[in-house]
Amino acid sequence: MQTTATTYSPRPDAPIGVFDSGVGGLTVLRALLERLPDEDFVYLGDTARLPYGTKSPSSIRQYSLQAARRLHERGVKCLVVACNTASAAALDVLTAEFAPVPVLGVLEPGAAAACRATRNDRIAVLATESTVRGGAYQAAIVRRLPQAVVSARACPLFVALAEEAWTDGPVVEGVMHRYLDDLFVAGAEATHPDTLLLGCTHFPVFASTLARVLGPGIAIVDSAATTAGSLAEVLEARGLCRAPGAGHGRVTLLATDGAERFARVGAVFLGRPLAPADVEIVDLAPAPAATAAST
Ligand code: DGL
Repeated sequence: MQTTATTYSPRPDAPIGVFDSGVGGLTVLRALLERLPDEDFVYLGDTARLPYGTKSPSSIRQYSLQAARRLHERGVKCLVVACNTASAAALDVLTAEFAPVPVLGVLEPGAAAACRATRNDRIAVLATESTVRGGAYQAAIVRRLPQAVVSARACPLFVALAEEAWTDGPVVEGVMHRYLDDLFVAGAEATHPDTLLLGCTHFPVFASTLARVLGPGIAIVDSAATTAGSLAEVLEARGLCRAPGAGHGRVTLLATDGAERFARVGAVFLGRPLAPADVEIVDLAPAPAATAAST
């Protein structure tokens, strides 16, 4: 495994690296910018290889390492894995490779937010196939709340809809009913989950439509704000906060494909206008191994 630890010399004015499989992690970046307005961020969306959620754990680990290495090359002081699928499958390898650079995932903060929100200890987790299959959310919730009843549901079509910026309307509501109706059966409200955890960074854009479809009494939570709080604590503990009022809050956007699409759809997730010229396209493929000179 490549070792990077020796190159780490943290400076408070270095940027924070954030990555996701696509634009979904911009929902996390938005919360980070709100909480830490003086910090600079470099965001990388691996749009060429999205979705991660249908891939094998070994592919997700390999892609995550490549994305994180690219951010590490930019001298980031901290890494945020703004992708639930990558957090579930790769946080351990990322933490090992980049130590002592702090590496934060979104899964533990998401589980903490859901456990704080539930009143009846019944939590439904919506996530990608890989995240649900791996069981990391279910385990993180039960570790905090042993009596919790957790229903986890893979909702891969939500990723495609979010990437199209389709966040409401009859098609979206139809998909929600198809995925969720059996979890929230009419007439059985007493045994329903009272908390819906959006365990995928693409899903917060559906929060208001989900609230309408599910009706009152269901808390809808995600990991963005809790992750921002954890990051603030880590920076504080390590003396890595930028000086207040330093006037930065600069965001550098990198993607592996499609600057126009990234800007168009990403604006919905980030909540601010983006232009294709704001997005730098990078190639994460490792350089080909040198071939032996032919005779
Ligand atoms: N960003 C991913 C997550 O949070 C969802 C999209 C994908 O499947 O790559 O799990």
